[in-house]
Amino acid sequence: MSVGIDEISFYTSNYYLDLRTLAEVQQTDPDKYYEGIGQEKMGMAAPDEDIVTMAANAALPLIERVGSDAVSTLMFATETGIDQSKAAGVYVHRLLGMSNNCRVVEMKQACYSATAAIQMACALVARTPEKKVLVIASDVARYDLDTPGEATQGCGAVAMLISANPRLLEIDPEVGNHTEDVMDFWRPNYRSTALVDGKYSTKIYLRALKKAWENFREVSSLAFDDFSHFCYHLPFSRMAQKAHQHLAKLNKADMTAEQIEAQIADTLSYNRIIGNSYTASMYIGLTSLLENCKQNIAGTKIGFFSYGSGCVAEFFSGTVVAGYEKYLHCTEHQTMLDNREEVSYEKYLELYRHPDPRDGSDLTIEKVTKGHFRLAGFSQHKREYVAS
Ligand code: HMG
Repeated sequence: MSVGIDEISFYTSNYYLDLRTLAEVQQTDPDKYYEGIGQEKMGMAAPDEDIVTMAANAALPLIERVGSDAVSTLMFATETGIDQSKAAGVYVHRLLGMSNNCRVVEMKQACYSATAAIQMACALVARTPEKKVLVIASDVARYDLDTPGEATQGCGAVAMLISANPRLLEIDPEVGNHTEDVMDFWRPNYRSTALVDGKYSTKIYLRALKKAWENFREVSSLAFDDFSHFCYHLPFSRMAQKAHQHLAKLNKADMTAEQIEAQIADTLSYNRIIGNSYTASMYIGLTSLLENCKQNIAGTKIGFFSYGSGCVAEFFSGTVVAGYEKYLHCTEHQTMLDNREEVSYEKYLELYRHPDPRDGSDLTIEKVTKGHFRLAGFSQHKREYVAS
């Protein structure tokens, strides 16, 4: 029996800032962003959106198809936690009308935790193959204004059904891990934006790739040449390009620069216009590959490098299932992306600064999002979510 991803759907806000606008305000060459970091736009959550509403919007089409009783466990991966105690997934569970017999838990380790959730979901499904596990990754990436990280913000959520005999991707059991206590990026509880040692973080990312790959090679019979495509964690798309060139060099791949680039190019299309969505980013990258690759890639091997600052990294592999193209949500995703609204720099600042009361005061938030679920406000220290 194989286990893996049966269906995948993502959501991002209907607002974005074009990085040309940011470059103009900062009096920077826009090519620093478009070419240098490989990013064009960044998603900005509306005031009535957060990790819960984005997650519920991403998962809605999946639950509508399989029904609310089919899922035994909901795992919610995020580093934009909204509560120190209650799992954000419990709100999603209610919004989607899921069974009271479904367990819910939240996972955290920077951008890596969705991968931990997927591996644990695969183990649960292997034990009880008739059940499905819903893995959701949802994040809002925020850095301080006027810092190098500012251009690498974004927001998004991805929902994946993990099942036996999956229709999209069979996940192999062998994984390579690398964990190391480093301070490249972190967000103390008292801050709403991350702290990052940017240049150092890119070096640690590459080092973790080498180490996780070496560990993968010890446990798996697969070599670099066995893969047709690679999906990387995507803090910005240039990071993946550098990482893949690094991995190709480490493996002395006999390939042209164009051939190396072709192995990741289709994974970058959505990220370039959404920005970093932390836990969700690599899986939005997988969706981008499956939905945008012109060739049929059924039967081919994909390599995955998942990285979470701090740091935990994992290299794993999967095989694309025959007929996968019939089960994608290409049209819905493209329509959502096409219908987004560009914001001015002033509007971007307004969205960036929208109140998220930390003093417990009540707040009613007007409807803005085009998504199906929204955050209606705060009352008596409680977040109030509704279908819009
Ligand atoms: P910076 O230091 O301002 O940028 O910010 P830079 O000066 O290094 O320029 C970036 C690139 O643009 C350079 O290319 C320049 O040469 C080029 P490179 O040398 O790297 O190849 N450039 C231009 N290209 C064309 N035309 C121009 C031009 N000007 C410059 N005119 C930095 C870069 C990554 C430091 C910043 O964006 C940052 O701090 N980002 C946040 C941290 C981050 O994303 N780190 C990635 C690894 S850690 C990770 O992935 C985990 C994370 O997702 C969090 C988690 O796990 O939870 C972040």
